[in-house]
Order: sequence, then structure tokens, then C-alpha cells
Amino acid sequence: MKIAVTGATGLLGGQVVRAALADGHEVTAIVRSNGAAQLAGLDVRQVRAGLEDVTRMGSALRGAEGLIHCAAVYAFGSDRADEVARVNAGGTRSVIEAAAAAGVGRVVVTTSSVTCGSSESPSARDESAHLGQEPSPAYYASKVAQEEVALTAAEAHGIPVVLALPTVVVGGPFERLAPSNAIVLRYLLDPTRSTYPGGCNVVDVRDVARGHLLLLEHGLAGQRYLLGGQDLTWRMLHTLVADLAGLPGPYAEVPAPVAWAASAAAEGWAKLTGGSPLSTREEALTVGRYYWYSSARAAALGYSPRPARDALAASLAWLVISEHVPHFVRETLRLAPEVRAARPLIPSPEV
Ligand SMILES: NC(=O)c1ccc[n+]([C@@H]2O[C@H](COP(=O)([O-])OP(=O)(O)OC[C@H]3O[C@@H](n4cnc5c(N)ncnc54)[C@H](OP(=O)(O)O)[C@@H]3O)[C@@H](O)[C@H]2O)c1
Repeated sequence: MKIAVTGATGLLGGQVVRAALADGHEVTAIVRSNGAAQLAGLDVRQVRAGLEDVTRMGSALRGAEGLIHCAAVYAFGSDRADEVARVNAGGTRSVIEAAAAAGVGRVVVTTSSVTCGSSESPSARDESAHLGQEPSPAYYASKVAQEEVALTAAEAHGIPVVLALPTVVVGGPFERLAPSNAIVLRYLLDPTRSTYPGGCNVVDVRDVARGHLLLLEHGLAGQRYLLGGQDLTWRMLHTLVADLAGLPGPYAEVPAPVAWAASAAAEGWAKLTGGSPLSTREEALTVGRYYWYSSARAAALGYSPRPARDALAASLAWLVISEHVPHFVRETLRLAPEVRAARPLIPSPEV
């Protein structure tokens, strides 16, 4: 099949491109700047087109039978709220309009599991659930808006659109540190080895990429499909990271107000130094709740993710060779053999 991928320079889009090539598809990567290391050495046609430029996007999509729309701003912090809302919802509307005009047969839009909301107790939610009144980052609202816009545009333009809802996606290769891999990084850099109440669902980026291809071929138009891995409490997640990295802990469970204050300090420090905060007050709003999800609907189509331990090993494998782990921290790590083994299993290990 001829498949176009937006956001191909990102963590997820890069793996969607690799999975599609591995399945023998002809791939067009739609990018906003050429020469991304994420696509180096891959046999893909790169076409430059802005998300909101319907004419240019339409030409980029001509001839494509399927489109996987991964491009979005995945970021937290009030200073990015306007951009997040504009790109994630407005960009999706324009891309679907362009796809319909170009005669693309089917579209998969990447939204997020956060549109299914969260729970106070440790129970998994499914696609029948929606984000409620719980305090949430602006990014979450943008993904809810993205789903509404996608389904409305699909109906208006008569084009089949399937929604893919990944949970916390970890792994590599990556050029930009996504907030999901930053969860793993935070533990490596935290001298107090703290954990939090509540939990999340962790999935390997390679499994989510395969899930997108599955949905492109077999997903029902108009349907939401969660693409998750394993439900973990934060303590379980940090215990796995500690074990894989050869670090102690986790020790104390930090309550939500303390996590919020620590994030405020991290944002303040980042402002002073001109860097990016490793955690934000927006993310701290989610501490204590359970972001646990069932992927049974996708499993019925053949979706089969690996255990969280393998996903976290892959995330660590890429993090420890990145600029985000300072030398003095790297020296304290005693990586489990599966971390060392994980990187070569990922295509294009040279990145
Ligand atoms: N990672 C996760 O844990 C996770 C979980 C659930 C859902 N998701 C969703 O999965 C999708 C991919 O996320 P990711 O983790 O791969 O994020 P990422 O690594 O930050 O990649 C984002 C991609 O979108 C592109 N992009 C951003 N703004 C753009 C714009 N205005 N015009 C054109 N392209 C733009 C980026 O291009 P440049 O490289 O040029 O910046 C990049 O290719 C997003 O929809 C995200 O919301 C991610």
C-alpha cells in the first residue's frame, strides 16, 4: 500500500515509518524540515508540507492510499497551551480536508488514551469512557478537541477515519525528549528516588506503531482504539526502572501537592537557565490518579504489546546514550543485560 505519515520525524511517526517499510509498504514521510536524523538511512520519500497548508498537504498526499496522522505538539506547560490547541485540533482538521481532496482512501489519526479520562481507584478504562472534570493539562483538552474535529471532518468530507489512542509511549530512537521518555529520565536524575501515588499504562513505541498499521487496514471508521501495554502503579514503574538501571529505591511516595511544588521549582529553574523543565505543574495535576486502560478492542484485531519491562528497557537503552543523561549519572548506572540488548533490536541503531 502507498502510505503517507505526518510527524515522521517524531518518536512515534519514526517507528510507524519503520514498521510500514518492514511490511513492504511504499512510504511518504511528510515533514516540516528535511534531513532529520530520525529518517536517516530509511528508504522513504520526504515531502515538506505544513499541517495547516491544505494545498501543499494535498499535493504531498496525492497518490497515497492510506494516511497515518501522527504530527502534533506533545508538550505540557501553560506557555505552550495555545500552540498545543491550534496544532492538535486545527492541524488535524486541515490534514483530513487535504486527504479527502487528494482522494486518500483511509486515515488513522493519533489521539491519546487521556481522552478516556482517569480513575480515582486502580481500575482500567476502555473506549466507552471520556475525560471528565478532573484537573487536566491543556494538552489533554487538545486531544479531546482533536477527536471531535477528526470525526466531524471525516463526516463532512466522506472519508473513513479511525482514531488511535496510545497510552504512555516509551522507546526510541528520538531526537526530542518526549514527556513519556522523560518519566524514565526523571527517576535516573532524582537523587531522592521518590515515587507517587496513582499509576499509568506503559507501552513500547514499536507496538504502538504496529497497532497503527493494524488500524489502517482493519480498524472500523469512526471508532476509537486504545493502544496500550501494561497498567502499572507509579511504584511498580519506578521499581522496574530502578531494577533495569541498577539504582536503589523507590523510597517515599510524594503526595500530589509536593509533586506540584517540586514541578513549580523545576519550571522556575528552567526559566532562569533557559532550559526545558523536566516536570511541569500541569503534569503534577495527574499525580494520584490511575491512567489505566484496556486495549481489548485492538487486541481483537491482533494487537499484542510486549510487557512494560521490555518497553522500559528500550527506553533506557536510548536514554543512556542521549545528551539528557549526564556523564556523572551514567557512571552510577549498572544496566541490566536486557537494556544493553534492547538497542540493537530497534531498526537503525546508529541514530
Ligand atoms: N509519546 C507519547 O507518550 C504519546 C502518548 C499518546 C499519544 N501521543 C500522540 O502521538 C503523536 C506523536 O507523538 P510523539 O510522541 O511522536 O511526539 P514527538 O516526538 O514530539 O513528535 C511530534 C511530531 O509532530 C511534528 N509536529 C509538531 N508540530 C508540528 C507542526 N506544527 N507542523 C508539522 N509537524 C509538526 C513534529 O515535527 P518536528 O520534528 O519538525 O518538530 C514531530 O514529527 C502525537 O499525536 C501525540 O499526541 C503520544
